[in-house]
Amino acid sequence: MSMLRTKSIEQSLADADEPEYQLKKTLSAFDLVVFGVGVVIGAGIFTLTGRAAHDVAGPSIVLSFVIAAVCCALAAMCYAEFASSIPISGSAYTFSYASMGELVAWIVGWDLLLEMFLGASVVAQGWSSYLGTFLGQLGITLPAAISHGGTVDLPAVLLVLVLGVLVVLGIKESMRVNIALVGLKLFIVLFVIVAGIGFISSANYDPFIPPASVAEAKNGLTQPLLQAVLGIEPSAFGVGGIFAGAALVFFAYIGFDVVATTAEETRNPRRDLPIGILGSLAICTVLYCAVALVVTGMVSYDELPKDAALARAFEIHGQGWMATIIAAGAVAGLTTVVLTLMIGASRVMFAMSRDHLLPPVLAKVHPTFRTPWVITVIVTVVTALIAGLTPVGVLEEMVNIGTLSAFVLVSVGVIVLRRTRPELPRAFRVPWVPVLPAAAAVVCFYLMLNLPVETWLRFLVWLAIGFAIYFGYSRSHSRVGLAAQGQERKR
Ligand code: ALA
Repeated sequence: MSMLRTKSIEQSLADADEPEYQLKKTLSAFDLVVFGVGVVIGAGIFTLTGRAAHDVAGPSIVLSFVIAAVCCALAAMCYAEFASSIPISGSAYTFSYASMGELVAWIVGWDLLLEMFLGASVVAQGWSSYLGTFLGQLGITLPAAISHGGTVDLPAVLLVLVLGVLVVLGIKESMRVNIALVGLKLFIVLFVIVAGIGFISSANYDPFIPPASVAEAKNGLTQPLLQAVLGIEPSAFGVGGIFAGAALVFFAYIGFDVVATTAEETRNPRRDLPIGILGSLAICTVLYCAVALVVTGMVSYDELPKDAALARAFEIHGQGWMATIIAAGAVAGLTTVVLTLMIGASRVMFAMSRDHLLPPVLAKVHPTFRTPWVITVIVTVVTALIAGLTPVGVLEEMVNIGTLSAFVLVSVGVIVLRRTRPELPRAFRVPWVPVLPAAAAVVCFYLMLNLPVETWLRFLVWLAIGFAIYFGYSRSHSRVGLAAQGQERKR
């Protein structure tokens, strides 16, 4: 039964107040929205839009963005409710500890680490690829072995190391860099929308939903789990293509949940966290739909380049300089995504080691900078290694499955906590509980089923490692567990 033990919300709040674990409270609602937009707008919109329109949805990719946004909005409301009632650094992990017990909390924390470690690595690789494109336009070429796609992705490694130093120096300082880069990124996205409108030809929207056609046969490990289980014939476009596109572009929305990890550094978390989570999601949804409409209007979907579609659409219209500006903006924009995911990963590990599910020495806060520096160093080194050494295009879907599984558990957690702690003050409440959180869980799980079999297998390996650590170390060292044993002995 020890795996079901919960950590009371009051205990979580008290632990966060212990001086040696205390973080500096400096962030405002505005900072959180910037933080959210900074982590959400990234490799997804800059690269996936073209691929998804070209391969599966055509101009109706804008509807895929709407569907993915609805899925995220359902999950975001659940995140907003718990973040406003349990404003603690560990995000969904702390929340699950209070609602569904230690084992589920461990799994959620482990999933979040998957999301953020791999997300940071993948986007660092994407950054390196855009850097290569940008330098190429300036006539500079890096040696193949140490550039994107080479033996070691050196630019990606260097980026992660520099950002790691920033995170150790302090979140407010990192935030300043973030604000400048997010501003630049928003400018580029708006530039694409405004400059692109003039190149739209209505003929490119016809047909808006291309007729369904048999897709290139995908089989074995690369086919979606759902398809493998049901034995459905693979198809692209049509109404099914809109949903397939939604599963793909989900990646572009990942990150609004990371806002919840800054809870302990927020001045007024109960009010500001919901604003940060829902506000950044709303801004990104509007921008994404506009970009998708403009880009598919500029170039016919079957001629849309699969990579770097935003820049290349302008190249196709003979606007090389605009393409250069967009490539440069992507380099700046992806930087903030990597930074924020690294901060998120370090905050989740911080919460887990403060609970002694990971060794507590990791959670020590630096005396001058007041940041969890040991953990940040670990996050930096691991992210740099993954970004530098893993082949391109292998890990993206792992990020999706890690995030979606955490969303499912959080949605269930909202229903559980309404039952077990109905009296808890909640600054933000999800409407229509339990229907809405249940819908969130079902929709997220449906998207998970649309991920390839090989992604599921890798995910199961990741979970197996997590279980080994939990049963080998965490269960016997858990602070909550040891406290409970102490009380029993006293009796
Ligand atoms: N949403 C983030 C991106 O698009 C992860 O890069």
